[in-house]
Amino acid sequence: MTQGVTVWLTGLSGAGKSTLAELLAKELRRRGERVEILDGDVVRQHLSQGLGFSRADRDTNIRRIAFVAHLLSRNGVVVIVAAISPYRSTRAEARALIGRFVEVYVRCPLEELVRRDVKGLYARALRGEIANFTGVSDPYEEPEAPEVIVDTDRQSPAESVGRILAELERRGYVRSAILDGKGSE
Ligand code: ADX
Repeated sequence: MTQGVTVWLTGLSGAGKSTLAELLAKELRRRGERVEILDGDVVRQHLSQGLGFSRADRDTNIRRIAFVAHLLSRNGVVVIVAAISPYRSTRAEARALIGRFVEVYVRCPLEELVRRDVKGLYARALRGEIANFTGVSDPYEEPEAPEVIVDTDRQSPAESVGRILAELERRGYVRSAILDGKGSE
């Protein structure tokens, strides 16, 4: 069986991680890949229910996500993680555990996130109503050597997904668009 891979989307809340995860998943499924998304917001309703946003709780959340990503990706699944994962050392732990790991920095300036504020959380955090809010009152450690950087304030979602796919193809981790998922089983 072919090996899978974990595509790890890290970045601030509202930067576009979940949107890109969904679009990327759709394209990879179209090509015949088996895909699972581990989204922080969803994982926190199930596997990480009850965890908060202290460093310890975030690390626990990320370690759980990494553990599941490891199990799936070693069985041929393309795993797409969408979680803030603000701490460099915890992301490095995930990378070491998982092996085939493509870190994608989903980058967006804070001003743009505050302008978008899809969930209304930045307004509340800036008013001091949410303690430890990443990017406002809690740290986000930028990746130092991510495999891919996408700038969601300047690129369309399709363009960002295109860059991620190009890197996955370049490394031979996913089927190319030309094969289209046919004739390779
Ligand atoms: S992580 O830090 O543990 O990786 P995760 O991606 O699972 O975070 O969850 C982030 C989501 O939780 C955000 O998109 C936002 O909707 C919500 N959230 C609630 N409180 C906070 C907070 N203090 N900091 C960041 N996100 C928060």
